[in-house]
Amino acid sequence: MVKKIKLLKMKNPNTTPKVTLVGAGPGDLELITLKGLNAIKHAEVILYDALVNEELLDFAPIATKIFVGKRKGFKAYSQDEINLLLVKYAFSHGNVVRLKGGDSFVFGRGYEELEFVEKYGIETTVVPGISSSIAVPALAGIPVTHRGTSTSFTVISASLSNGELNPDVKYAAQSNGTAVILMGLTKLDEIVSLYKRAGKFETGIAIISNGSLPNEEIIRGTISNIQFKFEENPVPSPAIIVVGEVVNLQPITENVVANHELIYA
Ligand SMILES: C[S@@+](CC[C@H](N)C(=O)[O-])C[C@H]1O[C@@H](n2cnc3c(N)ncnc32)[C@H](O)[C@@H]1O
Repeated sequence: MVKKIKLLKMKNPNTTPKVTLVGAGPGDLELITLKGLNAIKHAEVILYDALVNEELLDFAPIATKIFVGKRKGFKAYSQDEINLLLVKYAFSHGNVVRLKGGDSFVFGRGYEELEFVEKYGIETTVVPGISSSIAVPALAGIPVTHRGTSTSFTVISASLSNGELNPDVKYAAQSNGTAVILMGLTKLDEIVSLYKRAGKFETGIAIISNGSLPNEEIIRGTISNIQFKFEENPVPSPAIIVVGEVVNLQPITENVVANHELIYA
C-alpha cells in the first residue's frame, strides 16, 4: 500500500516531478560521468551523501542542497526519511537529483529509493557512476582482472545488516578470483583468518583508504603480514580491501622506468 504523504507547498506548478539517481564516482571531482554532471546542473533540489565530493554542488548554484548522509554534527536521516524527502521535493520543486558516492546500485540502496518514489507515479532515471570497487584499485595500479592471474572478481560488503561477517568472504577466500571488500576495516582480522584457513598465506592484499582523493593511502602486503602493517599504519575509512594475486603485480610505473632503462642503456 502507498503511504499518504503530507506534501510541501508547490514551488513551481509547471514542473514534472522527477527523481534522477546519480552516481558521483569515488571522490575525485572529475570521476563523474558527463550525464551525471548535466543532471546536477539541471537539478532544483539535490539530496547528497557523505562520500560525495561537495565541489560537485557548485555546478548547481541555485539548487536547494540537502545533506542526508551520516557525519558528525549533522542530523542523520533514516532511509525512510530520505525516501519521503525525495517524494516531497519531487512534487514541490520538480527535478530532484539523488547524488550518491560511486555507483548508486553498488551497496548504495539506490534501487530501494527508486522503488519507493515510483510508487507515487514519479518519473525516475538512473545515471550510473564509477564505482569505488573498480576505480579505487585501478588508481592504485591494481587491475581487478588480469589475463593469466585472475579471471573473475567479486565485490563484497564485509558485514551483513546484523553486523556479522558476510559469509560470502569465505567463498571468495576459496576462489582464485579477486575479492574487493567494502566496509571491511573493522573485519580485517576475520577476513585474514578465512584466507589463512584456505592456505592463502602469500596471497596479496591491499588496503586503500580515501582512494582517488589527495589524502589517499595504500598499504600493500600479504595475508601473512597485513595485520602487522595495518597496526603500524591504521588508515581511516572509507577504505577498500583488495585480495588476490593481482595485488602482487608489479605497479605499472615501475615497469615503465625499467623499460626506459632497457631502451636507453
Ligand atoms: C556504502 S558503500 C558505497 C559504495 C559506492 N556505492 C560505490 O559504488 O563506490 C561505502 C564503501 O565504499 C568504499 N569506498 C567508497 N568510496 C571510497 C574511496 N574513495 N576510497 C576507498 N573506499 C571507498 C568503502 O569501503 C566504503 O565504506
